[in-house]
Amino acid sequence: MINLLQQCIQKAMTDCTDLIVPNDFEIIVQPSSRDRLGDYQTTVALQLAKPNRCKPLVLADKIAQTLKKEALFTKVSTAMPGFINLTLENNFLSTQLNARSHDPRLGIKKLLRTETVVVDYSSPNVAKEMHIGHLRSTVIGDAVVRLLEFFGHRVIRRNHVGDWGTQFGMLIEYLLEKDITVTDDLAIAHLNAWYQAAKQKFDRSLDFSDRARKRVQKLQQGDPTSRAIWQRLVVLSKKNFQDIYIQLDVLLKAEDWKGESDYQELMPQVIKDLEKKNKLTYDQGAQVIFLDGFVDRDKKNLPMIVKKSDGSYLYASSDLAAAYDRIHHLHATRLIYLADARQQQHFNMLFAALHQSDWVSDIHRLEHIAFGSVLAKDGKPFKTRSGGTIPLQTLLDEAEKRATRIVQEKTPDLAQKEQQRLGHHLGIGALKYADLRNDSIRDYRFDWDSILSLEGKTAVYLQNAYVRIHALFRKGNLPWKPLQVGISIHSPEEHALAVKLLALEGLLLSIESQISHLYRLCHYLYELAQHFHKFYEYCPIWSLAEESQQYSRLQLSYLTATTLAVGMKLLGIQPIERM
Ligand code: ARG
Repeated sequence: MINLLQQCIQKAMTDCTDLIVPNDFEIIVQPSSRDRLGDYQTTVALQLAKPNRCKPLVLADKIAQTLKKEALFTKVSTAMPGFINLTLENNFLSTQLNARSHDPRLGIKKLLRTETVVVDYSSPNVAKEMHIGHLRSTVIGDAVVRLLEFFGHRVIRRNHVGDWGTQFGMLIEYLLEKDITVTDDLAIAHLNAWYQAAKQKFDRSLDFSDRARKRVQKLQQGDPTSRAIWQRLVVLSKKNFQDIYIQLDVLLKAEDWKGESDYQELMPQVIKDLEKKNKLTYDQGAQVIFLDGFVDRDKKNLPMIVKKSDGSYLYASSDLAAAYDRIHHLHATRLIYLADARQQQHFNMLFAALHQSDWVSDIHRLEHIAFGSVLAKDGKPFKTRSGGTIPLQTLLDEAEKRATRIVQEKTPDLAQKEQQRLGHHLGIGALKYADLRNDSIRDYRFDWDSILSLEGKTAVYLQNAYVRIHALFRKGNLPWKPLQVGISIHSPEEHALAVKLLALEGLLLSIESQISHLYRLCHYLYELAQHFHKFYEYCPIWSLAEESQQYSRLQLSYLTATTLAVGMKLLGIQPIERM
């Protein structure tokens, strides 16, 4: 749609013979923020005022005069200081909708220029339960993957699991000391408890912390006893995480798991490359990269440690090697990382190191999608009663339980199994939408009532619109597929809905390039559902005298359902047919 409008405006600009248009001029046209002014708004007159030495509004009027000749618009108006508002013609809208109504992708094409993108997400830590913070990384990361795949990119998922640091020396040392055997059927919660105990000991006993450090070295150097225990921890965690991914309906598979340890082998090669380029410096026995522009509190140059003086590697080393692998072996040109906002400095340093090592050039894009914390209703950190972090498992189970209760109330006659299936999609969808609906960098407050509410910005609200459309088709005894009829737009509610439906493509394209803007898709779907509810309220179907009009409205509803479904699935939310 945006493309079409741009062409139209381009033509109008060319028709204004004496207009000066700079070479790299970009025609900005956007959906109008206030529908009463028009459907779209362009700022070309504001953009062109300066090169033409002319008042923006005068220029706007001039361009508007030529735009008025286009059959596309019923109304072209201007507003201070130089906006041009465009209202689309109903016939034009109908044609556009009809061209899309049979296509499950709604006419949205894959991009011509695609690239290889690595999305690093979820990335929990072995031997610990996933917690609420991992919900964010997993859910946002998964939506990023889905959107990029939708546009045809080659997307490689990487679950950069923490499995290699000091904490493993600590835990393994503790397990050995207490003579605890890690069996395959052990609950992950046990590991969590041992982990806590080991951590306490580590903080209190010098002797123990010393042994724990030596244990990491042993582990990293391949000591069989340490490796065997470590291997068990990994297997247990893998099973636990994978179960959560299935429950959460995310795309992550076992083969996407690439732990920090997996990059150990690559380290010598990475170091060799950095040495060859003269990028490594010895600093108190450690090998480090000094990064331009990074200083500590005392204004001293801040190094990134690649290899510690005792020969062991750190979190940053694995990230460096992982990036090396992604750039040189996977040939990725876009690297996206999902991690807590508190890791901003780490990623800034990593990206600087990648530039300084000449591993990346102009064709590469490095992005850290930073996210804030999940807070409780009162704005305080969201914790269990005893003050611990909330295990993700508990949250997922609770969401399903609450949603299933809603389904049972609404559809008591449905088989229990079906109620549970719907409850699962509704509950998980609600969690995901709540996580995605705000700009990710912001903290958000978690409140069960508001995330499962039928009113307001929730997944349930979207599901409800989708369910309504299914119910319409059930009522009319119609199979669930597009009808063989055309849509014709007449009423203001139909018009508003049509404009909204046609805006999806432009929005998705814009999010594709600004991938942290997924919240805009949430907002779009919410508004689309609102427009649909309004249409449903003001535009009766069954009482219409003419069958063709009935069918037109049913088809418009069907297209709304498809659009909702496309958008929801991109967010990882499964639409449901009844509730
Ligand atoms: N394991 C880390 C954590 O739980 C997140 C890792 C993020 N990804 C990365 N490549 N550093 O905080």
